[in-house]
Amino acid sequence: MQFGIADARHPNDQQAAQDKGQMATSLLEKARSFFVRKPGIKSKPKMNGNSATTMKALVVQQDKSVAVERRFCPTVGPNDVLIKVVAIGQNPSDWKHATYISQPGDIIGCDFVGKVVAMGANVPKSEVKQGEVRWGFVRGGVSKDVGAFAEYVAIEWDLTSLVAGITPAQAASLPIPLVTAIQALYLYLRLPQPFPQPSPDVKNKWILIWSGATSVGQFTIQLAKLTGLKVATTASPKRFDMLKAWGADVVLDYNDPDVIRKLKEETGDAIEYGLDCISEQNTYTAAQQAFCPSGGHLICLLVPQGDLPRPDVKTEFMLAYTALGRDVEMGGSLVKSVPEHRALHVKWQKLVTGLLKEGKIKPLEVHEMGGLEDVQKGLDLMKNGQHPGKVVYKVAELK
Ligand SMILES: NC(=O)c1ccc[n+]([C@@H]2O[C@H](COP(=O)([O-])OP(=O)(O)OC[C@H]3O[C@@H](n4cnc5c(N)ncnc54)[C@H](OP(=O)(O)O)[C@@H]3O)[C@@H](O)[C@H]2O)c1
Repeated sequence: MQFGIADARHPNDQQAAQDKGQMATSLLEKARSFFVRKPGIKSKPKMNGNSATTMKALVVQQDKSVAVERRFCPTVGPNDVLIKVVAIGQNPSDWKHATYISQPGDIIGCDFVGKVVAMGANVPKSEVKQGEVRWGFVRGGVSKDVGAFAEYVAIEWDLTSLVAGITPAQAASLPIPLVTAIQALYLYLRLPQPFPQPSPDVKNKWILIWSGATSVGQFTIQLAKLTGLKVATTASPKRFDMLKAWGADVVLDYNDPDVIRKLKEETGDAIEYGLDCISEQNTYTAAQQAFCPSGGHLICLLVPQGDLPRPDVKTEFMLAYTALGRDVEMGGSLVKSVPEHRALHVKWQKLVTGLLKEGKIKPLEVHEMGGLEDVQKGLDLMKNGQHPGKVVYKVAELK
């Protein structure tokens, strides 16, 4: 059973034949789409002074590239806020969806930051104000209506978080990477949340964050330190200073053939917890081997495959999308969301505003790469492993 986006491939030859056949239909469909309302694309009722009815959105094409098209603005449900997007953040899941999962016509993108321009009837005015800037994520790339790489996005209000003390571009580094780190530590590893104080039960226990320079890894290091843990991490040597600045206690090169022995030596052979931010066979195999003699608990971000060397290290797959409170279908399988997933997400969406203001969590260094029209370039770089770090785009001025 395979949940990993990276492995959900179409057989190439079968796909090529399908693509040819669909190409002609697509051109006709594109020409019609300006004039004909497609099933599933609803016009948005004018609400609270927001007058836009159509928007630009980044849409998956027959050849799996993405291009800007015009779509109707999303419909705003009673518990939703309508966000006018000002910045978006790029994640590996964006190119993986476009390449392996999305259908032509799906709107791509998960992470957004923007201004509240309309609110559903049930949104509590004490919690959300018209005009304030909030961030969040949706699962883009699986429907013709929902995707963050667009001028507007509608989302349940409590799945968003107020931006304070940081720029929209910085806030665009937060959504999926930060939420993944939160869910990994406090839902899957069941570590005590650091409020009101870090728990003495886990003080100075060791966590291994394999590939800590990933976006997920950088937030996991910050949260692990807040939680009172000691952090061992792996990365390319050029990232060592950055990871030490985030608070990592031990930083080693994942390409060093002696990395497992060194991890054991430098942690006193005491690693009990782990998050593998790459989760390929060579990485979780190595991560498992670095655990202490009595075993422990390792979280993977793709589904672990094949034989694992350490049955005493519980190795578990997680998917951040379940934080949105819905089951997730991926690679032909269903990943269940239980109420606790959404509840933890909602709780932290409120907490994070204060943690950012107090400087207890910091956004990532971002690389601004243009606007919606430039996303394809960024996706290509990321697909080839050449992206400079956290890539974000400006969709609109914040006015
Ligand atoms: N399951 C989920 O819910 C979930 C959620 C978020 C992300 N993910 C997945 O988690 C992975 C990381 O996402 P991200 O956004 O954090 O990534 P990212 O920010 O794009 O990570 C980039 C970094 O990955 C490191 N890297 C690349 N290949 C590596 C390898 N073979 N071994 C070790 N490190 C390697 C490099 O670190 P150095 O510079 O140190 O070489 C690079 O700087 C992706 O596969 C993504 O799809 C899954």
